[in-house]
Amino acid sequence: MAPRSATSWGRPLSVGDPVPLLGVAVGGAPVEAGSRNLRCRHGSKPGWMAMSGPGPQTDLGSIAFSPDGEHWIEFGPPDDRRRIAFHDYASLYAVPGLYERVFCTELAMGTAERVVGFYAEALRRLGRHPGDERVVDLGAGNGLGGEQLRRIGVNRIVGIDLEPEARNAAHRDHPGVYDDYLVGDLTTMSGSEIDRLTGLRPTAVLALSALGPGHAPPAVIDRACGLMPEAGLFAFAVMPTLLPGSDDPLGQRTGYPEFLAELFTHRADELARHDYVHRQRTDGTDDLAVALVGQLR
Ligand SMILES: C[S@@+](CC[C@H](N)C(=O)[O-])C[C@H]1O[C@@H](n2cnc3c(N)ncnc32)[C@H](O)[C@@H]1O
Repeated sequence: MAPRSATSWGRPLSVGDPVPLLGVAVGGAPVEAGSRNLRCRHGSKPGWMAMSGPGPQTDLGSIAFSPDGEHWIEFGPPDDRRRIAFHDYASLYAVPGLYERVFCTELAMGTAERVVGFYAEALRRLGRHPGDERVVDLGAGNGLGGEQLRRIGVNRIVGIDLEPEARNAAHRDHPGVYDDYLVGDLTTMSGSEIDRLTGLRPTAVLALSALGPGHAPPAVIDRACGLMPEAGLFAFAVMPTLLPGSDDPLGQRTGYPEFLAELFTHRADELARHDYVHRQRTDGTDDLAVALVGQLR
């Protein structure tokens, strides 16, 4: 297996980086229009006109990926191809259907469905009813996780994301899924915004494909968990190199190994742990993840 890419969970890369012109699909084959049709765990349509909510249709054409690592994606009709950086979420969310087409349809990203499923299983084992849960979806993006939470029966959900474009996309792509959606960083949010969150009286915090290098650092998930009282649940996934005991230098620099060791030693019980495939990388290898479900003491 190829070495894990340091960028596979989301370090933004510059659009201005020099890049070759030929794109490749997952697995390295040259891309032809309509050639990709992977199963989408989230139910998005794999068609070339991708759109999951109301609004103008966008011709996404075929999706091509940079051949030398996860640097950019290219999309659009043959006479109007556009290229954007692989983890430039603001640009991805701004184009209707593009985020789900790239990560869900082309790369079979399954984290929202898998981790929400692990959370649902924990609720079942604890005898807690999903309809009584009030969930903070940290790093909510365009609403894939919120959609899954509704599917299992949660009816109070607040999203948070750094990107204003994420909130716009959530309202456009998954209208009505979030009761509230805050834009910003939890560690620097104003008192009134924190009051909006605590007013929900959260019973659970989920972070789906949103933690790790290039995404939220430990202080953010720590702050989110701090919004809950005793017995609050959390569910998230991390790259295996972020687990306690990891000697991976990048993993250690994130602070996650130390944070998770402290969390599960002193403040929370681990209810479940699952190894699974987060998604395919553009070179066709599996991007592995570990989902953790815990409960505050
Ligand atoms: C890969 S996307 C995942 C979105 C969504 N949860 C999903 O499963 O499709 C990661 C999201 O985390 C957001 N994010 C990164 N750092 C964050 C932070 N410190 N606080 C809130 N959101 C953050 C990004 O803006 C991005 O929308």
